[in-house]
Amino acid sequence: METIILSASSDSSVKRAAQVIRSGGLVAFPTETVYGLGGNGLMADAASRIYAAKGRPSDNPLILHLQDPMEAERYCYINPLYYTLAAAFMPGPLTVIMPKKPIVPDTVTGGLDTVAVRVPSDPVARRFLKECGVPVAAPSANISGRPSPTRVEHVIEDLSGRIDMILCGDECEIGLESTIVKLDGEHLTLLRPGAITPQMLESVFPSVQIDDCSMRPIGKDEKPAAPGMKYRHYAPRAKVIVLDGESDAVLRFQQNAARDDTVGILCIDTHLAQIEGKHVYSLGKDPSQMAKNLFAALRSFDSHAEIQTIYAVMPPKDGIGMAVHNRLMKAAGFSVLKL
Ligand code: TXA
Ligand code: MG
Repeated sequence: METIILSASSDSSVKRAAQVIRSGGLVAFPTETVYGLGGNGLMADAASRIYAAKGRPSDNPLILHLQDPMEAERYCYINPLYYTLAAAFMPGPLTVIMPKKPIVPDTVTGGLDTVAVRVPSDPVARRFLKECGVPVAAPSANISGRPSPTRVEHVIEDLSGRIDMILCGDECEIGLESTIVKLDGEHLTLLRPGAITPQMLESVFPSVQIDDCSMRPIGKDEKPAAPGMKYRHYAPRAKVIVLDGESDAVLRFQQNAARDDTVGILCIDTHLAQIEGKHVYSLGKDPSQMAKNLFAALRSFDSHAEIQTIYAVMPPKDGIGMAVHNRLMKAAGFSVLKL
């Protein structure tokens, strides 16, 4: 299949892309978190095509992207807490799971009786969703098991020839996927950490539970609340090992390891100039920069076949650092070296 690649800056391109969605095709589009691979969220066939294009197991449900938070009333049985979350965080990088209405095809929800909804804040995503006029089911626009795409080149690399169209936008502002919460009666459970942090959720909602599946390895027979958490996501080709130790010890270890050309180094900005080696990559100065750079860094290592091992700094666990920590630990298969 030939994939049409269009710049999202022109209105006519966005209109063409929306037309493709309405007629059952697939379009990758930018959001503030990562690029999404969209299909018509009310067409079971479009969802099947999404699973096929990504090579994704069809029991791993898709998020419905909406232009306005209130549209969720058509697709879910609304929990009143949703309105509080919507007022505080939508549009933005938050996905909310609630019981689904029959209008949403089972294929979209991987057979679950709940559905995930999200209202992106990215201006291109908003223009696109408005033109579509239907909810857009969209997972991240990567081949299953690869890091999520934060730049259009990543989408082209993974999906060119497999989908109808790619809308090119800028690099994604946040760089990690949305925070996912599940609403169940009075309970709010965080299933996947993201840019909407537990502290932010607690500012509008007194008791936030954190599903520990997001922070530890998942057993083979376990069924986490977000089915996607059980797959080894964000996996680069090389083995990732996260270094746990004082900053000086981590620097010394990385300085030594970097001399070997089969090693990739993920370091913090202040150490970059002090580490000499062929494959040294800084994640940035602070947790937000780390979030924005992580997936591009993992992909850049993938493009050097000689790299066998990646030694990475341990990201902070608070604020958005929790999301960076979660993605990197998953990429590492929770492999940590204590220094
Ligand atoms: O930021 C994002 O959320 C991006 C952009 C494109 O919006 N999308 C994204 O989708 O990350 P995806 O499919 O890569 O991750 C969605 C996660 C999966 O782990 C999936 O299992 C979970 O959400 N999920 C979706 N619907 C669910 C449901 N009804 N119940 C539990 N988990 C659900
Ligand atoms: Mg994904």
